[in-house]
Amino acid sequence: MSDAKKTATLTLDGTSYELPVMSPSAGPDVVDIRKLYAQAKVFTYDPGFTSTAACDSEITFIDGGKGELLHRGYPIDQLAEKSHYLEVCYLLLYGDLPGAKQLEEFERLVTYHTMLHEQMVYFYRGFRRDAHPMAIMTGVVGAMSAFYHDSTDIHDEHAREVATIRLIAKMPTIAAWAYKFSIGQPFVYPRNDLDYASNFLRMCFAVPAEDYEVNPILARAMDRIFTLHADHEQNASTSTVRLASSSGANPFACIAAGIACLWGPAHGGANQATLEMLREIGTVDRIPEFIARAKDKDDPFRLMGFGHRVYKNFDPRAKVMKQSADEVLELLGVDNNPTLQVAKALEEAALSDPYFADRKLFPNVDFYSGIILEAMGFPTSMFTPIFALSRTVGWISQWKEMISDPAMKIGRPRQLYCGATMRDYVDIEKR
Ligand code: CMC
Repeated sequence: MSDAKKTATLTLDGTSYELPVMSPSAGPDVVDIRKLYAQAKVFTYDPGFTSTAACDSEITFIDGGKGELLHRGYPIDQLAEKSHYLEVCYLLLYGDLPGAKQLEEFERLVTYHTMLHEQMVYFYRGFRRDAHPMAIMTGVVGAMSAFYHDSTDIHDEHAREVATIRLIAKMPTIAAWAYKFSIGQPFVYPRNDLDYASNFLRMCFAVPAEDYEVNPILARAMDRIFTLHADHEQNASTSTVRLASSSGANPFACIAAGIACLWGPAHGGANQATLEMLREIGTVDRIPEFIARAKDKDDPFRLMGFGHRVYKNFDPRAKVMKQSADEVLELLGVDNNPTLQVAKALEEAALSDPYFADRKLFPNVDFYSGIILEAMGFPTSMFTPIFALSRTVGWISQWKEMISDPAMKIGRPRQLYCGATMRDYVDIEKR
C-alpha cells in the first residue's frame, strides 16, 4: 500500500473535507475514510460491503473483470496444474513458494499432527446420528480450544504457529469423522505414509473390515479441489474470521465462526445446493422451465453455482473444475452421467441468455465441484465440509496477517438507525 499521493474531496453542507486516496499494488484505489466521522460527523453506508475495503492484505487478489485469481501473485490455474495443496498452504501462510527442504519440513509437521485428541471421540458421540457434518464440524472445531490449551494464546507467536499447523493437519480428520459418524461407521485413523488428499479419502472410505486403495488420479482430483478452494480474499467467511478474531478470540473459536458462515447456501453451501438443483432439474428438457424461474423476480429461485459478487467474468476456478469433472468421470467410466449432461446444457443455456449475459452471471467454483465429489462417492452433505477443510488455510493465513498487524483494531461497524427515537416506558396496564 503506497502513501496517499491523491486526495478525494467530499463537500457536505458547504464544507469540504480532503480524504486521502491510497493506491494498492493491484486493484482500484481506496478512499481512506477512517477520520471522516471525527472530522465531518457522518458515517458511510455500505451494507454488504460492496464498495468497502475492510483491511489491507498481501495474500490473495481477484480481478473480477478479467476473471483472475492470484495467491501471493501466482495465478490459480498455474497452481492447480503445477503445484499441490500443501505447497499452496505454505505459499498462503508464509508469502513465498517453499524450497524443497522447507516443503519437506512443512509436510512432515502437518502429517504428524493429523490425529485428534482421543477424548474428542466422546465429543462426536454426543451429536445426533443424523446431524449435518457442517454442524458437527462447527462444534468440534470450536471445541478444539478446550482440547489444545497450549495454542490459544494469540499473543504468543509460537502458539499461533502450533494452532496453524494443528488446524490444517486435523481438519481432514475432523471432516472425515463427521462423515463416518453420520453413517454409523467406525472412525478411521490417519496414516502418516499417505499424502494429505489420499489420507482424507482413506479416512472417509476405508472400514476396519476392508482397506481403501487410493486411486492416484482421484487423490490428485481431491487435492485440486482443496487447492481451488484454499483462499478467496475477503469473502463472507473470511471476513467473519477476521471480525471474530478482532476481539482477541482464540483461533479455534474464530475458525469455527468461519465454518458457520460458510455453511450458508449463498456461500459454501452452494455446492450442495447446486447438485440438489441439478438433480431436481433431472433432464435437459426441463432446463427452460428453471431458467425462466431464475429470471422471475417473484420467484426466490436462483441458479445455484451461478454468479459471484466479485467475478463479472468466468470464475477461473470453475474452468479448472470443469476440466477435472471430465477427467474424473471418464476415469470412473461415468462420462454419460445425467447430472453432468444437465450441468453442461444448463451452463450453455444460461450463457446464451441475455438475462445472465447482461448481469455478467457465469458459473462459479461450485457449479462443477459437486459432480466430481458425487462421482468420488461423497454424499451431498459432505460437499460443504470439504470446502471448509480446504478454506481453513485461507482463514488462518488471513487471521495470522491480521493478528500480527500492530495497527489491529476491534471491528465495530456503524449503522443507519431507522428505529423509534427515545420514548417513555408505558406500564403494562396502560398499553
Ligand atoms: N440466478 C439468477 N439471478 C441471479 C443469480 C443467480 N444465481 N445471481 C445473481 N442474480 C441476479 C440478481 O437477481 C440481480 O438481478 P437484478 O439486478 O435484476 O436485481 C443481479 O443478478 C445481481 O445479483 P446480486 O444478488 O445483487 O449479486 P450479489 O453480488 O449480491 O450476489 C451471489 C452474489 C453469489 C450471492 C449470487 O450470485 C447468488 O446467490 N448465486 C447463487 C449462489 C452461489 O452459487 N453461491 C456461490 C458463490 S461462489 C462460492 C463462494 O465464494 O462461496
